[in-house]
Order: sequence, then C-alpha cells, then structure tokens
Amino acid sequence: MEAHFTEWLNLGIRWIHMITGIAWIGASFYFVWLENNLNRSNPREGLSGDLWAIHGGGIYHLEKYKLAPPKMPENLHWFKWEAYATWLSGVALLLVVYYLNPSLYLVKPGVELSPAMGIAIGLGSMAISYVIYHFLCDSPLGKRPALLGAVLFVLIIAAAYGFSQIFSGRAAYIHVGAIIGTIMVGNVFFTIMPAQRALVKAIEENRTPDPVLPAKGLLRSRHNNYFTLPVLFIMISNHFPSTYGSQYNWAILAGIAILAVLVRHYFNTRHDSSKYVWTLPAAALGMICLAYVTSPAHRAPAAAPVAAVEQPARTTPAKVEQASPAAAPVEQAASTDGAPAANAGASDFAQVESVIHERCTVCHSANPTSPMFSAAPAGLMLDTPEQMKAQAAKIHAQTVATQIMPLGNITQMTQEERDLIGSWIAEGAQIN
Ligand code: HEC
Repeated sequence: MEAHFTEWLNLGIRWIHMITGIAWIGASFYFVWLENNLNRSNPREGLSGDLWAIHGGGIYHLEKYKLAPPKMPENLHWFKWEAYATWLSGVALLLVVYYLNPSLYLVKPGVELSPAMGIAIGLGSMAISYVIYHFLCDSPLGKRPALLGAVLFVLIIAAAYGFSQIFSGRAAYIHVGAIIGTIMVGNVFFTIMPAQRALVKAIEENRTPDPVLPAKGLLRSRHNNYFTLPVLFIMISNHFPSTYGSQYNWAILAGIAILAVLVRHYFNTRHDSSKYVWTLPAAALGMICLAYVTSPAHRAPAAAPVAAVEQPARTTPAKVEQASPAAAPVEQAASTDGAPAANAGASDFAQVESVIHERCTVCHSANPTSPMFSAAPAGLMLDTPEQMKAQAAKIHAQTVATQIMPLGNITQMTQEERDLIGSWIAEGAQIN
C-alpha cells in the first residue's frame, strides 16, 4: 500500500515538475529568441527594437524598451513562478525517489556511506555549487565569458566524477542536474528578480534606472539558457542505462554536455551569422561517436566469455567493467546463503533460473515480495523461464554489461552469478 502511494506521489510530482519545467524553459527559449530577432534597424524613440510575429490565432507586435517605458503599465507580467515551481518540485522528486530509499537508489553498492550522509552531500552540494558559481561570476573571471564557461564546465564535471564515486549512476546524474538547476533558479532568485524589481522601482519613482543591474540579469539569464540542454538530457537520462550505468558515466555526461552547449550556441548566434553552423553536424557526429564508445562491444567482455572470443580485437580494456563495486556483497552472499556457485563456462539453465529467482523476483514479479514495490518495476516480470528468455537482452544490459541491477545490489548478486547469466545469454538463452 505504501509503495503504491509513493508511486502516485512520484507520478504527481514528476508531472508537475515536467509541466513547470516546460513553462520555464519555454519562456527562456522564447525570450532569448525574441532578444536575438528584434528588428533594431530604425526603432521608435526610446525603443531598442520591435518584432512582428504570427502565432495561433493572430498577429502580434512586440516592442522592447531601451531601458524602461516612460510610465509603468498597469499590468506587467513577471516570469518567476515557473522557475521556483520547477526547482521546488525537483527537490520534492529528489526526496521521493532518492532520499526516501537511499540504499536502493542513492548510494552506490559497495560504498561505505550512510544514507544520512549521502543525503547531506546531495543537498549540501546544491547550496555550495550556487555559492561558488555566484562568486566566480562576480570575480574578474566574470568579464571573460568563454573562460568562465570553461571553468564552470570543469567544476561541474568534477562534481559528476565525485558523485559517480559514491552515488549510483542515476543518482550521480540527477545530482549534477540538481546542481545546475539550483544555479539556474539561484540566478532568477538572487540576481534577475532583484534587478527587475530595482528597474521597476526606479521607473515608479521617476529616477533613471541604473543600467548595471539589468545587464547583469541579462548575462545570468544567458547562462541559464546554455544550461538548459544539458539539464534536459539529465532529466531523461534515467531511461538510458548505457549512459549512467557506465563506469565512465561522468565522462559520457561531459561529452553530451559539450555537444548540447555547442548546439545551443549555434541557435543563440544564428541571427547574426552562420559561423557556428558546423556545430550541428559536429554534434550529430559526436552523438554517433558516443553511441559507439558506449556500445556493449566495448564493455564487459570478461563477463561474457563467448562474446569476448568472437570479438577479441574490439575489446577496449578501459571500458571493461571489472572494477566491480559490488565486491563486498559477492563474498557475503556466497558465504551466507550458499548461492549457486556459478561456473562461467557451463551455463545450466536451472542454475540461471535459481539465480534470477533469488536476486530479481523479489521485485520483478507479478506479486513482488519486496515491500518497496506494489507492482513489477518497469513492468518487467521474471517469474517464468519464458519471461526470462524473452527479456534476455534487457537482463544482459542491466546485469551483465552494466551492474545497474539488482537496484543498489540489494539482493547481493555476486560477480560469478553475473558471469553465469552472461554466458547463458551468450549461448542463446536456452531454457530447456
Ligand atoms: C529492489 C528491487 C529490484 C531488484 C532486486 C531488481 N530490480 Fe530490476 N528494476 C527495479 C526497478 C525499480 C526498475 C525500474 C528502474 C527505473 O525506474 O527505470 C528496474 C528495472 C529493470 C530493468 C529495465 C526494464 C526496462 O524495461 O526498462 C531490467 C532489465 C531489470 N530491472 C532487470 C533486473 C534483473 C535481471 C534483476 C536481478 C538480477 C533485477 N532487475 C533486480 C528494481 C529491482
């Protein structure tokens, strides 16, 4: 019952997070586009430009003031709640998914980290990151955008690397997203909104507004714009185990983030020149390269001896997932419950079946016995031999090629058992 309730809580919050996120990012894209496409060739007195557009039911005419209109309009629309609501729902989602079940989702199997400590690191890193970012922007580095961008990138990837050492792959990615999201909402809360309030106040008091603050607000909102694409990838990343499940997940994230920022840069500059049009094919090529280097052919030959024999030349030692974080549970499980001692060479289906029943069907069953799930997670059931055979490719991806499953290695699957399943699948996943 409780598991069922948590699932619906997750659903509700995730849905809100998505809706508010779309509203926030949509507005961000729209206003950057507007700024870039203003017709600045002969603006009316006091304007910096205008723009005509057609959308939905009609034609719109928008005008941007150089600094402020001579008199405040009665009705001025502000954009802040989409940002705050996205951040608040994101933190709520972090709580419901990761912090409510830290041993399952947050902490990397085999790492000595108490759940409380893990949560403190997660939340603490969000706050600290904003402070560091803010400080860097206000330092002399703030005047050199390209260098600032490079420094921020290195720091964010360093954080990704750090998280990947102590958190599960999914949690590591999500916490990088949480850091970036916090910086973005911090920009709205601490810089952009105060600048806008100062502007409006000056106009109301008939003073000439100080142009420094709006300029700062514009810069921060540009930063936010570049952050959006990497954050959007991170939001959907937990569907893609070949990214977060890799031992080099932080490096894959770095690659994807660079490509995303390049693409964003092209779209932010293309009204002036098509100087950066090369970034589009470069990003496409980059994605293909990433797909290639993360492919199973480059991973885990040790866990699937038959496959390794077939493709000896293509095994890149760097991608071998031998450095198993699950080393401790391997010993424990073998000594406590006498799990089937697997021989990677001879894969007898009876052994495979009993391993899967022991390690997986507490959750992946029509009737999960784990109190944490009221229905089979991801709809995947492994009760019968036919189901096991039908899901062999997915099982390989999550248990052999990567060690994402069992979640948090909660059922203490051993390396021998992974090898056994690997060779069973390599031999064609026979069930009789
Ligand atoms: C503690 C519960 C638990 C255990 C034990 C567990 N899993 Fe999972 N598994 C999950 C959850 C939760 C998901 C969904 C993850 C997500 O949200 O994407 C999942 C997803 C999967 C998926 C991806 C399904 C899809 O269509 O995306 C595969 C494959 C999988 N598990 C295989 C296994 C195998 C094989 C084992 C045993 C070696 C195992 N799992 C043990 C909880 C568990």
